Amino acid sequence: MTNAVTIAHDGDIAIVTIDNPPVNAMSFHVREPLLAAFNALREDSSVAAIVITCAGRTFVAGADITEFGKPMQKPELRDLIANLETIDKPTVAAIHGTALGGGLELALGCHFRVADAGAKLGLPEVKLGIIPGGGGTIRLPRLVGASKALSMIVSGTPIGAKDALASGLVDAIIEGDLVANAVAFARQKVAEGGSLLAVRDRNDKIEGTDLAAFDSQAAELAKKARGLEAPIACAQSVRNAVTLPFDEAYAREREFITKLIASDQSRAQRHLFFAEREAAKVPGVGKDVKPRDVKRVGVIGAGTMGGGIAMAFVNGGIPVTLLEMSQEALQRGLGMIDKNYSISVSRGSLTEEAKAKRLAAFSTTTDYADLGDCDLIIEAVFEEMSVKKEVFGKIDAVAKPGAILATNTSYLDVNEIAASTSRPQDFLGLHFFSPANVMKLLEIVRGAQTAPDVLATVLGVARKIAKVPVVVGVCHGFVGNRMLAARGQDMENLLLEGASPEQIDKVFADFGWPMGPFQMWDLAGLDIGWRNRKATGKTAIIADALCEQGRFGQKTGKGVYLYESGSRTPTPDPEVKALIESKAKELGIERRTISAEEINERTLYPMINEGAKILEEGIAARASDIDIVWVNGYGFPIGKGGPMFWAGLEGISKIVDRLEYWYARNGDDAFKPSPLLKRAAETGKFSDDA
Ligand code: NAI
Repeated sequence: MTNAVTIAHDGDIAIVTIDNPPVNAMSFHVREPLLAAFNALREDSSVAAIVITCAGRTFVAGADITEFGKPMQKPELRDLIANLETIDKPTVAAIHGTALGGGLELALGCHFRVADAGAKLGLPEVKLGIIPGGGGTIRLPRLVGASKALSMIVSGTPIGAKDALASGLVDAIIEGDLVANAVAFARQKVAEGGSLLAVRDRNDKIEGTDLAAFDSQAAELAKKARGLEAPIACAQSVRNAVTLPFDEAYAREREFITKLIASDQSRAQRHLFFAEREAAKVPGVGKDVKPRDVKRVGVIGAGTMGGGIAMAFVNGGIPVTLLEMSQEALQRGLGMIDKNYSISVSRGSLTEEAKAKRLAAFSTTTDYADLGDCDLIIEAVFEEMSVKKEVFGKIDAVAKPGAILATNTSYLDVNEIAASTSRPQDFLGLHFFSPANVMKLLEIVRGAQTAPDVLATVLGVARKIAKVPVVVGVCHGFVGNRMLAARGQDMENLLLEGASPEQIDKVFADFGWPMGPFQMWDLAGLDIGWRNRKATGKTAIIADALCEQGRFGQKTGKGVYLYESGSRTPTPDPEVKALIESKAKELGIERRTISAEEINERTLYPMINEGAKILEEGIAARASDIDIVWVNGYGFPIGKGGPMFWAGLEGISKIVDRLEYWYARNGDDAFKPSPLLKRAAETGKFSDDA
C-alpha cells in the first residue's frame, strides 16, 4: 500500500485517510490501495465501522482529469464505490473543503456523510462535457429527490453544507474536530445497531416522483443547454434513476459517459478547463514575482464601461473612487449602478442590506487629487488618444508611487499612452467587456515596458473580481476585437452577393453563437461604427446606407431588422432587402444563392487566420489563450472549444485550402493564409493543443 491511503484505528473504528495532494483526486494510485483497504477492513472483525477522510485542504475534489481519454486502469471508480457500498458495517464519509465529482460519488457509496460547516458538495462533471460516471446520477436522487438532483447535476454547481443537510445529502454538520466527531458519529451508529441501508437501496425520496413536473423542469434546463449533449444526458440519467431499477439505470449511466467522454464536445470542454489554468501562466512572470497590494481602485469615467468596471471591483470587495467631469455625470453614473443593483434585488440575487453595503463602497469625486490613495487607476473615458493622454497627464501628477495605471481602450496604442506618462513600467491595458460587471473576460494588455509585478498584481486582482484574465500584446483591437473584425470583413459582400441578414444570423445561431452578427449590430447600435468610419474616412456600403436612414438598431426601433413597438425581437424588413438588392445592382453584382457552408467559410475561416497571425506575432502566447478570449468574451460555443480548437476539428488543411480559394477570388488579405496556419495544417493542430 502506498502513502496515498493510510489506515488508523481509534478503538474499533477504522479511519481511512486519502492523501493525494493537491486536491486528493481519485487517481489510479489512490483507487488501488483504497480498494485493498476496503477489502481488508470488510473482513477485519476488530473493526466495527469505517470513517473515510482526507488529508490536506479538501475531501476528494474529483476524478483525475489527466486520466480522461485513456483506458481506465482498474479498479475503476464506479467499481470501487460499488465495493464500498457492500460493506456491512457503518461507513461514514467525513467531508471538509469540497467533495466534488468522483469525491461526492465516493461519499455516496457510504451509509452516512458528515461535513464541516464550510464544506461544498457537488457533481460538476457537466462542465467538462460529461456526466457523473461513478453512480452519482443514480444515487444522488435517492438522497435529495429527483428535482434537487436534476438541478445540481445539470448546473454542476455545488451546494453548501447547510443546504446539503436540509436536502438529506449529509446526515450531520460537524462543529470542531471533523475526524474525531466523525468517529463519534460512527460509534453511535454502531451502538444504535439496526439494519444498514445502502444508498442504492433507499427509494423513499424517489418513490412518487411527479414525472410531469420533472419533465418540464428538464425541458427548461434543456433549452439553456444550447446544443450541448451532456446536460441532456444528465437529465435523462436522473430520470432513469427514478423510472428504472437501480442496476439498469446504473448501466445506462455508464453508456452515457462512455459515449460522452469520447465526444468532441467533451474534448472541447476539457481543453477549455486546462486552457483557463494555462492562461494564468505568463511568460516572464514567475511564481517568485511578488504582487503589489490593491486596496482601493480609481475609475475615471462613469459611462457604460466605467460604471460596470467600478461595480466589478466593489462586487469583489475592493472599494472604488469614481471620477467624472461633473457632478451631473457622476449622478448619472451612480444612478445606473443603483438601478443595476436594484434589478439584482428584485431578482432575489442580492439583499437590500448587501445593496446598501455595496453602494457605500463607492466614493465619487471630480477632483483628481482624490485618487492619491488608489493602488490601481483605470481610465474608461472617450475613445480618443488626445483625451486619454490628457487624463493620464492628470493621473500621473497625483497617483502615488507604485500605483498601477490602466486604460480600458478598445483599439488605441497602449504603448503610446504609456509613453505619455512618467511611469510606463506601471502602465498596461485592462480591456473589460460590456457589461463589465457581468462579462467574465479581461484582456490584460501588456505594454512594451509593463513590469512583471504589475502583471502578477492584475492577474491576482482579476481572479478576485471573478474575471477570466488573458494576457495579450499591443496591436489594433488586441486579440478579440482584431479577430472580430476579420470575422466581419466579408459580411457585407455576402449580403451583396445574395445572402440575407436573417440567413447569415441563422447560420451563426446553428453554429451555436448566442446571436448572429446582424442582431449584434442592432443591439450595439450601428451609429458608433458609422461615426468612427466618418472620422477616419472609411465606408461600409450597407451599414452606412442604413445609418443615413436613421436606422441605428434597437434603440431607434429599426436597424438591419425591424423592432415593433419597443420589442427586442428582430423582424426581417423588406425595405432592407430592397436596399441590399439595389446596392448590389448599382455595383453590378449578380446575386446568387449562398450556402451555409460558404457563409461559415467566409466568416469563420478568416477569423481563424487572424488568430494564427496573432500567434505568429506573439500577441497571444498560445492558441488556447485565444480560445479563452472567444469563449468568455464573445460567446463562442463552449462545446466547440474556442476558434483555434475548433479549427483542429474542422481540419486546418481544409481551412487553408478554402482560404486560398477565396483569396484567389477576392484578393483580400484577410483570406491570405498566414505562414503559421500553413504550418499548423501539416500537423493538424496548433502546437500547444492538448
Ligand atoms: P461612454 O461614453 O459610455 O463613457 C465615457 C465616460 O467618460 C462618460 O461618462 C464621460 O463623461 C466620461 N469622460 C469623458 N472624458 C472624461 C474626462 N476627461 N474625465 C473624466 N471623465 C470623462 O463610453 P464607454 O462605452 O464607457 O467607453 C469608454 C472606454 O471604454 C472607451 O475607451 C471604449 O473604447 C472602451 N470600451 C468600450 C466598450 C463598450 O462596449 N462600450 C468595451 C470595451 C472597451
